[in-house]
Amino acid sequence: MENTNNFVSSSELALQEQFKRGIREINKNKNLSAFVFTLGCQQNEADSERIRGVLREVGYSITEKEEEADLLMVNTCAIREHAERRALSIIGRFKHYKAKNPDIVIGVCGCMPAQAHRSEQLKRSYHYVDFAFGTSMLHRLPEFIFGALNKGKRRFLLDSEKPQIAEGLKIERESTYKAWVSIMYGCNNFCTYCIVPYVRGRERSRNMAEILAEVQGLADRGYRDITLLGQNVNSYGKDLEGKPTIADLLNEISKIDGDFMIHLMTSHPRDASSEMIDALASNRHLAYHFHLPLQSGSDKILKKMNRHYDKARYLSIVEELRSKIKGVTFTTDIIVGFPGETEEDFLETMDIVKSVRFDSIFSFIYSPRKGTPAYDMEQVPDEIKHERYDRLCNLQNEISNEINNTYVGKTVRVLVDGKSKNNENVYSSRTDGNKIVHFECARDYTGTFQNVKITRADTFALYGEIIENN
Ligand code: SAH
Ligand code: SF4
Ligand code: F3S
Repeated sequence: MENTNNFVSSSELALQEQFKRGIREINKNKNLSAFVFTLGCQQNEADSERIRGVLREVGYSITEKEEEADLLMVNTCAIREHAERRALSIIGRFKHYKAKNPDIVIGVCGCMPAQAHRSEQLKRSYHYVDFAFGTSMLHRLPEFIFGALNKGKRRFLLDSEKPQIAEGLKIERESTYKAWVSIMYGCNNFCTYCIVPYVRGRERSRNMAEILAEVQGLADRGYRDITLLGQNVNSYGKDLEGKPTIADLLNEISKIDGDFMIHLMTSHPRDASSEMIDALASNRHLAYHFHLPLQSGSDKILKKMNRHYDKARYLSIVEELRSKIKGVTFTTDIIVGFPGETEEDFLETMDIVKSVRFDSIFSFIYSPRKGTPAYDMEQVPDEIKHERYDRLCNLQNEISNEINNTYVGKTVRVLVDGKSKNNENVYSSRTDGNKIVHFECARDYTGTFQNVKITRADTFALYGEIIENN
């Protein structure tokens, strides 16, 4: 099944090991710490766990206090303008750390510096940044740190022409019960609004054996929630020899023992086959939640977005999932104000939201991305975008509230996520349908499955009482 062109060579990885040894030598007995700020999606969260893994290997402890750190990294996102502005403002505030201590190392990675104009901007206007590199260069982090510690030339690298997968990088997982497992990288879809294919390269899949070993290892260590990550997990395996499918992978994962749930993030409706839905329906680890990005309810806009499905196809997938997986919950992504979206187009989106009745939606105001086809199309005025966004949110809030209230009086199984941010005595948890449930409890059950009787609900969460077994 191996396609060797997909993978970073062992000699390149060995070279990076040498750089790691070099850094450890320089950092010996220094008691250094590193701070990593993560923006963007789960792919970036997963990459940051690899970054922390490497940083620890070369002698840094991980700190949450940026002002104390000896090495600072920002793992950036470029999906919308707001994400890039945030990244630049965080990088901006690192300036005075370097002014105070010139030995500090500052690096930028992720999706933003994979774009030539941003890389150039960082090089020119952020002179205290030591290195910036695109997502496919992550395995070369030791080389960049080693260079910076030796006061070498500043490095600004875009993604490689043909990005490859680096297996075996150490991962420092944030959680002891929830894990990301990347099954593929990149995207081939080129939705006309989206920057991802330009900053994450073409699709490449990990070998099934590597993924299964990782899931098995997590199950053995008692992980309870495993998310299989990729921009379009439904097209997993197309680039591998033997062409294993996502259904094959799910069927193999189903054989692994352990009390854990599996989520997919994200599925593209274009490739949602019946074979995959059957593999989900028969999977003993399946969580009853499906995220299926819709983007728009108008066939005209879906075509302009290059999504390769229409409204009817989307609805038929929802129906098939609902009939084969009883009680499945649905979430989606919707963009409002895509170029050329008329009031009629928008009303079609509102209609589909009413008919599907998603549990919740992630709605986004269209943000023009330089280098994508939609950037040059005629734009919808900002005030219309905002007005439509508000109407969509109001509609969804009503629906979410109604759906959530149907849970009152029921008992649900939840995975406990830890103390709620706002209230010391309240715990936050999620059902296997990914609904947030808050409950009060004297004991800390974080990382375990518990039963909660729902007593109240609102738009964003359920509230209840834990049913303790002893
Ligand atoms: N690969 C995933 C999406 C990743 S990006 C998929 O295809 O489903 C997450 C979401 O960001 C997208 O689903 C889309 O709704 C939104 N998005 C992407 N580009 C955007 C842009 N230029 N402006 C606004 N929202 C955007
Ligand atoms: Fe972007 Fe489309 Fe690829 Fe998702 S499938 S990452 S929206 S290009
Ligand atoms: Fe952002 Fe890159 Fe993810 S652009 S949404 S971090 S793939």
